[in-house]
Amino acid sequence: MSKIILITGGAGFIGSHVVQLFVTKYPEYTIVNLDALTYAGNLENLKSVENAPNYLFEKADIQDEAALDRIFKKHKITDVIHLAAESHVDRSISDPLAFVKTNVFGTVNLLNAAKKYWIGELEKHLFYHVSTDEVYGSLHDGGFFLETTPYDPQSPYSASKAASDHFVRAYANTYKMKTVVSNCSNNYGPNHFPEKLIPLVINNIKNLKPLPVYGKGENVRDWLYVKDHARAIDTVFHKGVPGETYNIGGFNEWKNIDIVRLLCQKMDEKLGREPGTSEKLITFVQDRAGHDLRYAIDATKIQKELGWEPSLQFEEGIEITIDWYLQNEEWLSRVTSGAYQDYYKEHYGN
Ligand code: NAD
Ligand code: DAU
Repeated sequence: MSKIILITGGAGFIGSHVVQLFVTKYPEYTIVNLDALTYAGNLENLKSVENAPNYLFEKADIQDEAALDRIFKKHKITDVIHLAAESHVDRSISDPLAFVKTNVFGTVNLLNAAKKYWIGELEKHLFYHVSTDEVYGSLHDGGFFLETTPYDPQSPYSASKAASDHFVRAYANTYKMKTVVSNCSNNYGPNHFPEKLIPLVINNIKNLKPLPVYGKGENVRDWLYVKDHARAIDTVFHKGVPGETYNIGGFNEWKNIDIVRLLCQKMDEKLGREPGTSEKLITFVQDRAGHDLRYAIDATKIQKELGWEPSLQFEEGIEITIDWYLQNEEWLSRVTSGAYQDYYKEHYGN
């Protein structure tokens, strides 16, 4: 069946992979990418599909009610996949309100626009909300996050995402909107903005700059290749049961310091540097305030019930990722010029 899907945040890291997957895999669908093009949004991420007949772009802010109403009407939107968000924990610590505005207010605005446009036939249309494992809080004594784990967000970012998840479920319960939510672990791969650990470290190794590791580098994250997340979103969109939540993760836990060392070793090889050159750049810096110790997703439900599993091993994904950054120097230098330099100086002081 033909669909006209509004994908929000499609110019960002994960959104760009979701847009590319849907535009190429489903020529019978029309994909409308709505993005405000904040510092994190980059249309260069979508070069491969920008001229596709089933792809359209709308520059708009999800906080803008009138723009949303216009876009739903103009394109006759049938379904929504909502990724637009402020996504960086460190920025949420210095400016929490920006996260309330986009992640909470913006999401409720989008729910309202969808509800208004789909009035009388809410059961025919899906509102898919893409969220994060950070809503479950921090693991200290082993175990995994399950879909039933109580919410316990610890940062302004995760609190804003948790609030948005609650609003989506409240709209399903109250207005009988057809919704689905997925909560994913840390993604890595091409197009990742270099404010986040992996691309920041790759960029700094390349430029022989200090590699800032927060605290002792003991914090653990569960890494998933971004295209596997996009495949999971495709699976949940098409096979997910309305009202349900699906955890998505890579069963791939790493301490930050081990990831940084791995990147050092692999990049020394690729750049033809003496082994050990990049490790000398590792610099332990002040810890992130309220730093969550460990995230680990139990992705059994999506595997068993919907048949999704990660396709790439981490070793392979990280090679592809490093190669992508080394081959896309222009992308990297464009996104790290201007405002990035100001952010970097303010946050890292060098
Ligand atoms: P990102 O920061 O790379 O991209 C966010 C996109 O949203 C950008 O294109 C930006 O321009 C757009 N945007 C921001 N504010 C907007 C607004 N007010 N109106 C319209 N567009 C706006 O983020 P990402 O890492 O691709 O994350 C996408 C989604 O996935 C987010 O909802 C995030 O919470 C979630 N998520 C991310 C990860 C991860 O590891 N990156 C993991 C799990 C879930
Ligand atoms: O778990 C999913 C979440 O993963 C997403 O919801 C977020 O949008 C995404 O940004 C990511 O959050 P993290 O805070 O885990 O990612 P980040 O890359 O910022 O940091 C990963 C780990 O590395 C974390 O423990 C903090 C640490 N770190 C990060 C940076 C930027 C450092 O040690 N040094 C750094 O310079």
